[in-house]
Amino acid sequence: MKKITADQLRKMYNGFYQEKGHTLIRGASLIPENDPTVLFTTAGMHPLVPYLLGEKHPAGTRLTDVQKCVRTGDIDEVGDATHCTFFEMLGNWSLGDYFKKEAITWSYEFLTSEKYLGIPVENLAVSVFAGDEDCPRDTESASIWEACGLPKERIFFLPKKNNWWGPAGITGPCGPDTEMFIDTGKPKCCEECSPACDCGKYIEIWNDVFMQYNKTAEGTFEPLKQKNVDTGMGLERTICILNGVKSVYDTELFAGALAVIAEFSGRSYDESESVTKAFRIIADHVRTATFIIGDERGVTPSNVDQGYVLRRLIRRAVRFGRQIKLQRGSLSKISKVCIDLYAETYPELRANEAKILDEINKEEERFIKTVSMGLKEFEKLVERLEGTEIDGKTAFRLYDTFGFPIEITEELAKEKGLTVDTNGFHAAFKAHQEKSQAGSEQRFKGGLADSTEQTARLHTATHLLQAALRKVLGDEVKQRGSNITAERLRFDFSFSRPMTADEIKEVEALVNSYIQADPEVVCEEMTVAEAKERGAIGLFESKYGERVKVYTMGEFSCEICGGPHAKRLGELGSFKITKEQSSSAGVRRIKAEISGN
Ligand code: ALA
Repeated sequence: MKKITADQLRKMYNGFYQEKGHTLIRGASLIPENDPTVLFTTAGMHPLVPYLLGEKHPAGTRLTDVQKCVRTGDIDEVGDATHCTFFEMLGNWSLGDYFKKEAITWSYEFLTSEKYLGIPVENLAVSVFAGDEDCPRDTESASIWEACGLPKERIFFLPKKNNWWGPAGITGPCGPDTEMFIDTGKPKCCEECSPACDCGKYIEIWNDVFMQYNKTAEGTFEPLKQKNVDTGMGLERTICILNGVKSVYDTELFAGALAVIAEFSGRSYDESESVTKAFRIIADHVRTATFIIGDERGVTPSNVDQGYVLRRLIRRAVRFGRQIKLQRGSLSKISKVCIDLYAETYPELRANEAKILDEINKEEERFIKTVSMGLKEFEKLVERLEGTEIDGKTAFRLYDTFGFPIEITEELAKEKGLTVDTNGFHAAFKAHQEKSQAGSEQRFKGGLADSTEQTARLHTATHLLQAALRKVLGDEVKQRGSNITAERLRFDFSFSRPMTADEIKEVEALVNSYIQADPEVVCEEMTVAEAKERGAIGLFESKYGERVKVYTMGEFSCEICGGPHAKRLGELGSFKITKEQSSSAGVRRIKAEISGN
């Protein structure tokens, strides 16, 4: 096995696939644009969903990249050998181009060839799909692995629960996969021990998904227009294996952060299991917070959506810091080490350095203030408590008044041998918060819903809104942000004063007149220069190389965008602005709904 650094691995992976005819594309932002169903990018395929469904990608049919991902669903596992809330996914895609044979043969070559990772074949195991009523047993993949040189006994047929990936939400592209594992050499935990087991014998490092189905809202699997390959290799895990260290936290990616924690707590990383865990959780959460704030579409701590997840991560890091007496102000020092480590690969971190450090410090201070009050309150309520369960309302009061995330209340309760009625908490939470806040609470754990037609319509309405705003208020109006839920669109734009009631009415009427004219929504591919010439608005720094998509809606709107969109404007029904308010200095926010036809 090759001892290589993270950066060498990134370059080696992308280089290998470039040699196989793939185009290197830029990974997307951690915060998906115009996707109401997900808070963060959780896999390399997310930004590519439209292309997996059949749209043409400007960079071709073979792509490779490195994608920043955040998965908070695994938060309880963070601190073990293999789980992090932030990770980098190395990926390659075939958009209706090659399929199983090439995908598997290349994976095998990359893993085992001395020129690349040089992993001995006897350390590898793979799983393939066992077959069910939706999709046949994947004997083809098994045969390809065998032909590559992998012995039969290390090819495991597993059911859908283990060997099917996607859809990322409720509906969308998905398919059987073949997963690649390192056999750590640990003894089998039981007779049936297999890669499906979480005993630690097998560590998954890579997944080749054969995305050939679309899961419908009815739960059926329809063949897609094209057969795709979607793969994802975990960078941290692979580095861990190659360097023979015992966890992802023992790789070069965390060394600096752990050293800072040791310095400012006076503790040592391996002094006990619980101290090791605290070190790892702090390092993980601060790294994730650094990437969320420092993202090109970064957010700051708040009580909604991504900002709420961020707040919880920072606060959780503070809480584990308390356990090891980490000095106040240390989190930003850990963050600084992360910025220095990653700045070359992710220049946005350096560009946003001051903001990252400042936001982390501010959130730590806010939390320290509320926590000291909250802890007293918690002790009081424990004294008064009858039985061993903290009821939902009380847990909510701790959250609402003292800023205690439910997770922290649960941890404190556990230390005292108590439980928390989390269902009751969520009920109280819902009753007290705006829908969006409740939404983010649910989505903290959850994945995605689907990209519905309603989303596409709202997205289309966003284009019309921007066009109308520019007409009524002038070209000063530029998009600053956009977010869509199943119910409404939200659009942030640069403008220095509140809109008047007349202006709001005028914009609404203009959008409705565009909709009534009912032109077709036309999508064309062109170079950035051609788009500029056409007078298209939008982000000109192309994420996907030279060619971009330009959506034209009659005379009204011409904008660079990735989609998805309605086919005709008439589908939008009627348009209504429900709110116009300030978002931040010089930025206004509009919320609007459509009726749909
Ligand atoms: N999308 C696949 C995964 O996340 C590759 O495992």
